[in-house]
Amino acid sequence: MSEAMAFRFAPMQERELGWVAEQDRQLYPFPWSAGNFEDSLRAGHSAWTMFDGCEPVGYGVLMMVLDEAHLLNISVVASRQRGGLGRHLLDHLTGVARQAGATQFFLEVRPSNTAALALYARAGFALIGRRKGYYPAVEGREDALVMRAEL
Ligand SMILES: CC(C)(COP(=O)(O)OP(=O)(O)OC[C@H]1O[C@@H](n2cnc3c(N)ncnc32)[C@H](O)[C@@H]1OP(=O)(O)O)[C@@H](O)C(=O)NCCC(=O)NCCS
Repeated sequence: MSEAMAFRFAPMQERELGWVAEQDRQLYPFPWSAGNFEDSLRAGHSAWTMFDGCEPVGYGVLMMVLDEAHLLNISVVASRQRGGLGRHLLDHLTGVARQAGATQFFLEVRPSNTAALALYARAGFALIGRRKGYYPAVEGREDALVMRAEL
C-alpha cells in the first residue's frame, strides 16, 4: 500500500452501527453488539469510522479518563487487513488522544492476538501488566496483556 493513499476519518454515526456490529461479529469471537456501540457513543467515547473513498474500511473507539486514553476497539475489515490500514487507524486515534490532552495511552489485548500485538509493539506500546482471566474464551477465560504508550 502506498503511503500517499488518503484515508478519511469521521465520527461514528448511529446509522453505521448495523454495519459496525456486523464487522465486529466477523472479526471477534466475542463481538460488541450494535447496542454496545450505541452505549459507547452515548457515554461520549470518541468513536471513529475510517473510509477509503466512500467505503468504510475500519473503526475504532477511545475512552478518555483525565489525561489517559484507553483503546476500547480497533478493527480493520477482514478483506483489507495487512495493508497498513491498522497502522493509519491507530495513528489517527493516537492523534485524537493527544489533542484531547492525553499523556498516556492504554490498551488490553489477548495474548493470542498476534496481529494486534505486532501492531501495538510496532507503534511503541510496551507491556506493563497482565489481567488474569480478563476475557471470555471458547474454553474458559483468557488473560489480557496490558500495554501502554507515552504520548
Ligand atoms: C489488529 C488489526 C487492527 C491490524 O490491522 P491491519 O490493517 O491488518 O494492520 P497493518 O496492516 O496496519 O499492520 C501493521 C503491523 O501490524 C503487524 N501485523 C498486522 N497483522 C499481522 C498478522 N496477521 N500477523 C503478524 N503481524 C501482523 C505487522 O507488524 C504490521 O506491520 P508490517 O505489515 O509492516 O509488518 C486487524 O488485524 C484487525 O482488525 N483484527 C481483528 C480485530 C482485532 O483483533 N483488533 C484488536 C483488538 S485488541
